[in-house]
Amino acid sequence: SPPAIIAPSILSADFAQLGKACADTIAQGADWLHVDIMDGHFVPNMTFGAPVVTKIRPHVDRPPGAYGKGTFDCHMMIAEPKRWVKDFKSAGCDLYCFHYEAAISSTAADTPSGTSNAKTSPKELIRYIHDLDMQAGIAIKPSTPVDVLWEILENPVAEERPDMVLIMTVEPGFGGQSFMASELPKVTALRNKYPELQIEVDGGLSEKTIDQAADAGANVIVAGSAVFGAADPGEVIRKLREAVDG
Ligand code: DX5
Ligand code: ZN
Repeated sequence: SPPAIIAPSILSADFAQLGKACADTIAQGADWLHVDIMDGHFVPNMTFGAPVVTKIRPHVDRPPGAYGKGTFDCHMMIAEPKRWVKDFKSAGCDLYCFHYEAAISSTAADTPSGTSNAKTSPKELIRYIHDLDMQAGIAIKPSTPVDVLWEILENPVAEERPDMVLIMTVEPGFGGQSFMASELPKVTALRNKYPELQIEVDGGLSEKTIDQAADAGANVIVAGSAVFGAADPGEVIRKLREAVDG
């Protein structure tokens, strides 16, 4: 597997101090910040949108598009993923990770004003994200089989292939849920075929569950409540990293 990337989910941070929480978390050793965007349609919860990302992005001392430390990993739990790509680019998003399930059922236009009812496909959406100089991720929910990803990953056209796959290890929508070990065979199957792929796991990751996820081959580790609920977040980040890098 590629080296560990620890991406605390700011969903569990104090929303009244979000900019400070981002800066502190990076200072405590986080690589990326995982930013959960929920629209109340794709998932039964709402968080915030691009205007909030615009305001918190400058609290991290890393220019958008530089990648590495400070990457804003935006997990788009939204029904119309194509519609918000440009807004998130402007807000400073580095990695736009959309849900497969939303992409295949969405007829959204690519601008908020709406000019097209054309359906989008994952590969077209990935190309569109890449054209705007962001990395592209594709996420699947627990109910979606990993098999839907093979065709997308095997695309010979590089611009249409994702930079990262996100395997949800809870039902998306809320922090603090129990880890679903039932999802790990998806990670193993991906890792066996793609030794260099960035494979992210999200939901219920902690010092208790990290070993299983690391053994399966995950290297991008999201953790919300485990990091922000800890007395020493830096210590949790270190332990998660150790478990992946060995
Ligand atoms: C859930 C979100 C997760 C969440 C993880 O829908 O996608 O990123 O914040 O929180 P924990 O680590 O507490 O399960
Ligand atoms: Zn998430």
